Amino acid sequence: MTGKEESSGVVRRDRFSGGPAREFMSSLAADERIFAADVAVDRAHVVMLEEQGIVESDVAADVLAALDDVESAGHGALPDGEDVHEAIETAVIERVGPDGGKMHTARSRNDEVAACIRYRLREDLLSAVESTLALRESLSETAERHVETVMPGYTHLQPAQPTTVAHFLLSYEAAFARDTARLLDAYDRTNVSPLGAAAFAGTPFDVDRDRTAELLGFDGVLGNSMDASSARDFLAESLAALSTHAVTLSGLAEDLVIFANKGYVELSDDYSSTSSIMPQKVNPDTLELVRATAGDAISGLNGLLTTLKGLPRAYNRDLQRATPHAWRAVDDVSAATEVAAGAVATAEWPEETLSAAAAEGFSTATGVADALAMAGLPFRTAHEVVAEAAGRIDGGTPDLATLDAVAEDVLGDTLFEYVSREHVERALDPTYSVASRDSAGGPAPEAVAAQLDDAAAQLDAHEEGLGERTAALESADDRLAAEVNARV
Ligand code: ARG
Repeated sequence: MTGKEESSGVVRRDRFSGGPAREFMSSLAADERIFAADVAVDRAHVVMLEEQGIVESDVAADVLAALDDVESAGHGALPDGEDVHEAIETAVIERVGPDGGKMHTARSRNDEVAACIRYRLREDLLSAVESTLALRESLSETAERHVETVMPGYTHLQPAQPTTVAHFLLSYEAAFARDTARLLDAYDRTNVSPLGAAAFAGTPFDVDRDRTAELLGFDGVLGNSMDASSARDFLAESLAALSTHAVTLSGLAEDLVIFANKGYVELSDDYSSTSSIMPQKVNPDTLELVRATAGDAISGLNGLLTTLKGLPRAYNRDLQRATPHAWRAVDDVSAATEVAAGAVATAEWPEETLSAAAAEGFSTATGVADALAMAGLPFRTAHEVVAEAAGRIDGGTPDLATLDAVAEDVLGDTLFEYVSREHVERALDPTYSVASRDSAGGPAPEAVAAQLDDAAAQLDAHEEGLGERTAALESADDRLAAEVNARV
């Protein structure tokens, strides 16, 4: 041992960490994110050690008091160290003396860091969930106001069939609901305790792993200690959920950018910006940045998975560089979600422009073919008649005379042998087209009303899920604080 003797008689662990690679190896700055988590993990561990008779009560009390002090001083006041775990331990020893070193009995930084990341990430995941709920709420509220606002629907970015603003917005609400569910799933697999695994091979001390889990609000413990200290699949799952959500967000942002360009949606000035040179410009920059967030999240997921790929058991220092990908993704994606929610909530959908656009490009062609098929013509034949009519008019919507002339040519009979004039006229009307598409999940107002109900029910369920998880963490915080207060 070549560690230097301090005046306190404390042996400092600077055997390997003082060399030229010191800064390269240190995670102390990045660990600010898990400073509070580490203090909590230390507290729970010390309370458990004392309860198990592994550490004397007076030592536990001194360590817990020192941790209070270290916490109030903050991350910035920590002594130098390879990481936050080492620095906090040093700070405790500085206050308590060598007995402060008993805090690290029956554990390793390997189970400690894994516990800290899980402890911190779960709170970030819950914030991400909360932001998805707010976005879904603003989509549903806007949809409610636009159940009858007819707009063009697209495939291949070509006008395809009329739909409504509500139907369009709820298509994203449904996707975001699945994103929320994935984040909650990721939370549940994150919220499990690795503590007690020590370096990977457990410990000869009689630790109570369930107790530390309970004190920290974890739902259970990871059974295999080698798995517990090695596992980072919870990071991969969380980043995958965040990236998937960011991809959904990017689709919404892209649609809104396109619609803003066509004048189909008017973004609030708060979510637009102007050009530094072109005074007339109102640009959808915020949505472009939301759209770009997916790239960052996906690159984070890629970086993480590439770091994890092929790592042997158990702990390897590579894992230190895996963690920051998660912080960046969860912060960026949550911020993008909040911005998207605000942009949606404040946007206007100009009804007249939308309804005029909905009629463009013979968008009701499918409806006319459906009308002929409903009258008994094979759909393929009906499709041919309408396609021929569309070809003859070269853009725009064919009138009844054109449709009839085509029917004479293709079917050898007048169109009105098959279907009434009124029915064809109605089929050419975008509002009727929307109203007629009342199959489950369709854009007809009754079908959309059912989707709004489903969206509200699922939002309630997810809100409840968020509330339960948040409350469980809060009561664990209270329990831990009570145990600490009973000792200091
Ligand atoms: N700072 C490390 C990390 O973030 C944790 C410490 C474990 N270090 C070690 N050499 N075993 O992963």
